[in-house]
Amino acid sequence: MQNVRMGIIGLGNIGKHHADYLSNHKVSRCELVAVCDAYAPLDRYPSLKTFTDGEALIKSGAVDAVIIATPHFQHTTLGIAALEAGVHAMVEKPISSHKADAERLIAASRRYPKVVFGGMFQMRTEPRYQRVQKLIQAGELGAIVRINWINTDWYRTEAYYASGGWRATWKGEGGGVLLNQCLHNLDTLQWLVGMPQRVRGFCQLGRFHQIEVEDNVTAYLEWANGATGVFVSSTGEAPGTNRFEIVGTRGRLVMENDQLTFTRNETDMIQFSQTAKQGFVKPEVWNVGIPFENAKLPHANLVQNFVNAILDGEPLIAPGAEGIHSVELANVMVYSSLLGETVALPMDGGAWEKRLNQLIAGSKLEKKVMPVEATDIASSFRR
Ligand SMILES: NC(=O)c1ccc[n+]([C@@H]2O[C@H](COP(=O)([O-])OP(=O)(O)OC[C@H]3O[C@@H](n4cnc5c(N)ncnc54)[C@H](O)[C@@H]3O)[C@@H](O)[C@H]2O)c1
Repeated sequence: MQNVRMGIIGLGNIGKHHADYLSNHKVSRCELVAVCDAYAPLDRYPSLKTFTDGEALIKSGAVDAVIIATPHFQHTTLGIAALEAGVHAMVEKPISSHKADAERLIAASRRYPKVVFGGMFQMRTEPRYQRVQKLIQAGELGAIVRINWINTDWYRTEAYYASGGWRATWKGEGGGVLLNQCLHNLDTLQWLVGMPQRVRGFCQLGRFHQIEVEDNVTAYLEWANGATGVFVSSTGEAPGTNRFEIVGTRGRLVMENDQLTFTRNETDMIQFSQTAKQGFVKPEVWNVGIPFENAKLPHANLVQNFVNAILDGEPLIAPGAEGIHSVELANVMVYSSLLGETVALPMDGGAWEKRLNQLIAGSKLEKKVMPVEATDIASSFRR
């Protein structure tokens, strides 16, 4: 194979974005040949093969790979259908709506190890997070002791929620701000510092909007080495904050307002404490501004990596199977909040699936759906 024949299933906000950069040849050795949407009109793609059924596109023989960009619940079924048909799959985030479904999808991918399975976690291609990862992996921060991410600049209006019947419902989405907007941040968090061991979530359901799922969250996390963290998110807060702070024994990294700063302890803080002769002294610090560029087309960069993985065996930046971690974090924060208890990880995905099914069965929300003015999806991407 010299070129990957790509199909897109789901042509809503993000599916159209994928179609645009692929049609503009921003990914080399990849040709968009087919698109599918079960409901939206497909006439804007006159030169492509069109389908209204995702499985029909997968089985058509017209494509080598697909990007699955439907609402979350279909990611598992369509993802499994693609893998079973030998069609390489790039699954939008979240890879599934809940952990047990993610396990089903991953089990299918293990049965077909030659079929490439990627997860659309484009934030991993952002130079700022790659710098942070490099610093952590090089030991520049020492041992991680505290992580705080105030991640409340995901403001969404009632019109946004009314733009799709599936949005912000237990049945259609399986969760709210955690599973949808800040799932990228949850993925990045665990990609940088690993999964915590215990989580206690405090979630407010429909605090700011007429929805039944969480739109305001504060969660406490604890890692095996004793590191602690707080993750805060909201779709109701304006102007909103995006401040990511990682503290290690060798210093503090802060990412905020498009700046990354490292305040570096000259001496490891624990070592300093154990050897200092005075009581009120602190390690000397160096303040280092770390420059970075913004990725221009992060989704295209990740799809390029996916195509290179198919054609050349290049390692994936975001293997699909790693997508289970962000799903688990999103699920456990809500589950812990509903239980009113701290939950140990790995969580019981079956128990959350059962609880989610009860929430779906008990839903009384009459979802208002209305047409909304077209917006530029790119303005919704956060870093
Ligand atoms: N990676 C990112 O930056 C990013 C950004 C936005 C959305 N997303 C993810 O992409 C997915 C879609 O989000 P969206 O905002 O584009 O939603 P959307 O509602 O705008 O679009 C979904 C599209 O899928 C179609 N669809 C629904 N069921 C289908 C089926 N069974 N087969 C084929 N088509 C079907 C709908 O008609 C609709 O056009 C979500 O899972 C979301 O989390 C990712």
